[in-house]
Amino acid sequence: MKKIWSLFFIVSATCTAGNAQTKTFRVDVSRPVAAVSPTMYGVFFEDINFGADGGIYAELVKNRSFEFFKPLMGWKVEQTPFREGAVTVLNRKGPNPRFLRVVLNPAADRGFSLMNEGFRGMGIKQGLRYDASFMYATSDPGIRVHFELLDTANRVIGSGLVTPAATNGAWKKQEFSFVAGQTEEKGRLRISLEGSGTIDLDMISLFPSDTWKGRKGGMRADMVQMLADMKPGFIRFPGGCIVEGFDLSQRYQWKKTIGPVEERQLLINRWNFEFPHRAAPDYFQTFGLGFFEYFQLAEDVGAEPLPILNCGMACQFNSAELVPLDALDPYIQDALDLIEFANGPVTSKWGKIRADMGHPEPFHLKMMGVGNENWGPQYLERLQLFQKAINAKYSNFKIVASSGTDPDGPRFDLLNKALRASNIAFIDEHYYRPPQWFFGNAKRYDSYPRSGTKVFAGEYASHPAGVAPEKKNNWLAALSVAAFLTGVERNAAVVEMASYAPLFAHTEGWQWAPDLIWVNNLKVFGTPDYYVQKMYALNKGTKVLALTMNKEPVAGQDSLYASAVIDADAKVLVVKIVNAAPREQQVQLAVDGVKKLGSSAKQMLLRSDDLNSINSLAQPEKIVQKETDIVIKGKSPLIEVAPYSFYILRIPYL
Ligand code: AHR
Repeated sequence: MKKIWSLFFIVSATCTAGNAQTKTFRVDVSRPVAAVSPTMYGVFFEDINFGADGGIYAELVKNRSFEFFKPLMGWKVEQTPFREGAVTVLNRKGPNPRFLRVVLNPAADRGFSLMNEGFRGMGIKQGLRYDASFMYATSDPGIRVHFELLDTANRVIGSGLVTPAATNGAWKKQEFSFVAGQTEEKGRLRISLEGSGTIDLDMISLFPSDTWKGRKGGMRADMVQMLADMKPGFIRFPGGCIVEGFDLSQRYQWKKTIGPVEERQLLINRWNFEFPHRAAPDYFQTFGLGFFEYFQLAEDVGAEPLPILNCGMACQFNSAELVPLDALDPYIQDALDLIEFANGPVTSKWGKIRADMGHPEPFHLKMMGVGNENWGPQYLERLQLFQKAINAKYSNFKIVASSGTDPDGPRFDLLNKALRASNIAFIDEHYYRPPQWFFGNAKRYDSYPRSGTKVFAGEYASHPAGVAPEKKNNWLAALSVAAFLTGVERNAAVVEMASYAPLFAHTEGWQWAPDLIWVNNLKVFGTPDYYVQKMYALNKGTKVLALTMNKEPVAGQDSLYASAVIDADAKVLVVKIVNAAPREQQVQLAVDGVKKLGSSAKQMLLRSDDLNSINSLAQPEKIVQKETDIVIKGKSPLIEVAPYSFYILRIPYL
């Protein structure tokens, strides 16, 4: 018979005390060892795997401004009969130079349209309003522009028609809306033009109206909701390697991502070509999702913003291009200006730009990463110049420094030593490692210094071998991270921020796996790793306790891992237990330092008997946490811990 792991398994100690197999975990609620940082569990938003364009940025039209290297990539011109010169790509000055010129000749044309394929199709929802827009210039009145959404059988499932007024050559924006009559995961947009004369077109755009907070030109609400549900303590953005760039010309420059969307200069995404086996020639950054929007997102979900800026070094795996030290000033100025953009008064140059974008209030930026995965003496000497300039102007501002690509080895050791000596606020550690590494490193932070520089576990993920790449987020991976995080939590005095990476991946557009959250054009699902992260984030507590077994931290003995915190305001003891063994285990939780434990507690359980099992579009909640009410008797409840399981117990105390 299948066992139901629930309150039956928490009973009074007196029933079963004396069982030789029972392990005793001991905590003293009256003796917290450190505060848990409110920013402890956050998210790292990275534009990889079509995370931004084609992902959270809800624009449905791919290559809307014809700035991809191939100006008509994503578009198909359908013209009957073909007429030479009816469509040309022209170039003007400015950040968004290219546009399309269409010359219509009703005497010769039997039909003329432009078809956009979207990002692996367009996700269309029945009954939803779609907001269309385009920039245009024409001196010819009466040109009719039809927008038609098509399903995979080429049937029209929604349409709108406008007849833009003549502009005498000036550029204007035309906006209109229509409702879709059918749901389609792989829709396309056909734009048919009728009439006589010439019309120039640019920034052809289509957004669903159900964006996050209903913002026009905004983000996919279902994807943002997944983040909001985690109540992340911080959001690190926008990368990752895109911050560094293949070379310096391709680095991320925040100033080019703000202001009117049509003036944001497109850039190739490094993940377009980085992995030849997962090449994505249509992966570019339009920056419709830019730094303003990232700050807004952080504010919306109650997270501290954590931007990462280029430190004057391109990716050291790629070109390794360096800015000479005496030419670093513009990079440092970018960092100073970003602080002003986020926090400055509306009377300041950059504060005014923020206000003009609709946010006069500051974003309360407190920290910034300088460099992503940079290393070596070249990194240290550049970082030092940033640190000096930033802290001269903003003495309490926290700088997050890179420790390179690996959590150990000579590069790591060099940086770790030098950065601690310089008293940098945070060292950003990255580890993409097999599950065994995570199980084996639950004590990693036990020996770190408690004072001085703090750790930001900025990118980590457990990568199991031998499973098809897109299916790697299996239960083994998630369980190993759950086990490891007990050690992070135990060392809340050392680690103040942690984020899994990467965050999002499109099922048809990914470059890197595993990832926390997967999407297609209409759906989103969390991996078992997502639920681990969410469970930790929602149960981080305020103070950490020393939880011991035989006076030792529980970090792998008998395949058990555990940590404990209290929420001092709510007076709740929160215990996390991972059982990585294929067998049930009995644990007695001996709680000292309380008058009594409340009888009515909560249990959250994430588990599977199959370490290879995964969530998927077809089975999005195969592994999802189950919450139950449980009854606690006495101060030493006995817990039967299921095989391959991650538990969180929330027990009120007096
Ligand atoms: O998250 C994927 C990549 O891993 C990031 O871009 C980089 O920082 C790390 O190497």
